[in-house]
Formats: sequence, C-alpha cells, structure tokens
Amino acid sequence: MEEKMKVMGVVGSGQMGSGIAQLGVMDGLDVWLVDTDPDALVRATKSISSSIQKFVSKGQLSQAMGTDAPRRLRCTSNLKDLHSADIIVEAIVESEDVKKKLFSELDKITKASAILASNTSSISITRLASATSRPCQVIGMHFMNPPPLMKLVEVIRGADTSDETFRATKALAERFGKTVVCSQDYAGFIVNRILMPMINEAFFTLYTGVATKEDIDAGMKLGTNQPMGPLQLADFIGLDVCLSIMKVLHTGLGDSKYAPCPLLVQYVDAGRLGKKRGIGVFDYR
Ligand code: CAA
Repeated sequence: MEEKMKVMGVVGSGQMGSGIAQLGVMDGLDVWLVDTDPDALVRATKSISSSIQKFVSKGQLSQAMGTDAPRRLRCTSNLKDLHSADIIVEAIVESEDVKKKLFSELDKITKASAILASNTSSISITRLASATSRPCQVIGMHFMNPPPLMKLVEVIRGADTSDETFRATKALAERFGKTVVCSQDYAGFIVNRILMPMINEAFFTLYTGVATKEDIDAGMKLGTNQPMGPLQLADFIGLDVCLSIMKVLHTGLGDSKYAPCPLLVQYVDAGRLGKKRGIGVFDYR
C-alpha cells in the first residue's frame, strides 16, 4: 500500500498539523492541508515556508526541493478535497467527540483504501476507529513537537488495526526520516504515559514549595541532560494539552497517582496556557 502513497491529507493546521504537512511536502508527497479557519492556513503556510528555508540554508534540503516542496502544499477548508488522499493524518483539537465526528466524515469522503491516522497524544485509537466502517485502516501516528525536528513517531495499533495498515504507516514515517516505536492502545501510549507524570510532578514540586521554577528546570535540564526543563517543556507543549493528557491518564488508568496537580489546573483556568499565549509557568511577553 505504502509504495503507492502519493497524496497525503492533514486535517488541522496548528503546530502539529503544519509540521506533519511540511514533512510530507519535503518528502515529495502532494499534501492537502485542511482547516476550517482560513487565517490558520495562512499562518501554517508561512511557518512551513520559513521552516523549509531553514533546512535549505543549513544544507539539509536541496535548493531544488526547497523550491518544489511549498508548491506541493494545497490548503483548503473543504474536507471533500481529501477524496484522492492515500493517507489522512488528523491533527485537530484533543476532543474525543470532535475527532470521532471527523473520522466518521472522513470515512464517507475518502477512498476505500485510504488509511485514517490520528496524531492524538492520548485518545483511544480503538474508539476513534469505532466511528468508521474501516477500523482495520485506522491507526495512531503520533509525531512529537516540533515534527520537522523530532526524530520519533509513535505508531499506535487499535484493537482492529491490520498488519498492512501498520506496515504502511511505519514505512511512511520512516520515509520522513523518523524512528518508529510501536505502542498498544492504552492511555498515554508510551511517551505521554511517562512524560506527563514527570511534568505533573514538576508542577507538584513547584506547588509544594520545594524549589523555584528556575531551579526545578535547571535541575532536570542539567541533572538529567534534557534539552528543556519540564516546566519550560510544559509551556512549549501547552498547559491545556498537558492537563487534558493527565485527565486521560487519570480516567483511563484509574490510579490517583495520575491526578493533575492543582497548580496546573489553576494555570489553565487562568488562561496561562504556555508559550502560545505568551504566558504559562514562564512569561514570554
Ligand atoms: N523548523 C526548522 N528548524 C527549526 C524549527 C523548525 N520548526 N524550530 C527550530 N529550528 C531550528 C532553529 O532555527 C535552530 O537552528 P540553529 O541552531 O541553526 O539556530 C535549531 O533548530 C535549534 O532551535 P533553537 O535554538 O530555537 O532551540 P533548541 O536548540 O532548544 O532546539 C528544540 C529546539 C528542538 C525544540 C529543543 O529545545 C528540544 O528538543 N526540546 C524538547 C522538545 C520535546 O521534548 N518535544 C516533545 C514534546 S512531547 C510531544 O510532542 C508529545 C505530546 O503529545 C505532547
């Protein structure tokens, strides 16, 4: 199935969706990027072009590909434009209901052979698949932020995902230069199952006055060789996203150790969502 992949659809043009679309065009695929908000598509197009230029200027992408890649990107607000896509990667809001509705629509619009993939960071692939008539072609394809730079794609098999769908999805991620890890479909998969409790614990460390935010981050950054401290990373991911993943872990795994830290909840209530809002744990304004 993978050899024939020529056209990719990406639904949702935020940080993740635009990064995934960029990987597609840089690999020579024709990519349809879909978003209901035309302004978001304009922002995505600009950020994709500027990121591609960075790769060209560092010699990591040829000048010819740097010119060709942006031309392969087509932006639309009409889902029906995905009718020719071989694979669709969904990267919309982390809401199970909204995603299920989208999967049900994609199931009707896309060609019968198309793979429907979700970039969800923690929602059950099996439940998303249940909204379609092709659960064997539904899979999790979880990129890390920022997708153009991070080397990992977590591929998640739902209860009915076929071997063929898994192989084709893995091969596509490898074509993008990524290393693939495979997770079964349980809350948080691999990365967020481990990363989010660490971030949550960093919030508890701050909340209970153990140390300052600067010292917590410096401690983890320099003490465990992480590129960002956990609080800065939380701001980078989005505190709302971190909170929603903690809730999925708490509900899905049923253990009080996953209860979100009250300080994380309070920041989200206050609209301190992290870098994207200019303020989270740290102030970026
Ligand atoms: N496209 C192209 N180049 C980019 C880029 C992009 N989108 N973003 C940054 N760069 C380039 C920068 O221009 C810079 O280039 P130079 O060195 O030539 O100046 C280089 O990459 C490094 O960037 P920065 O100097 O801005 O910052 P940095 O050295 O800290 O690297 C980072 C940035 C790669 C994001 C690094 O900080 C990092 O790895 N942070 C951790 C990220 C992480 O853990 N992500 C996973 C989050 S978890 C997740 O995503 C799962 C989930 O479901 C929540």
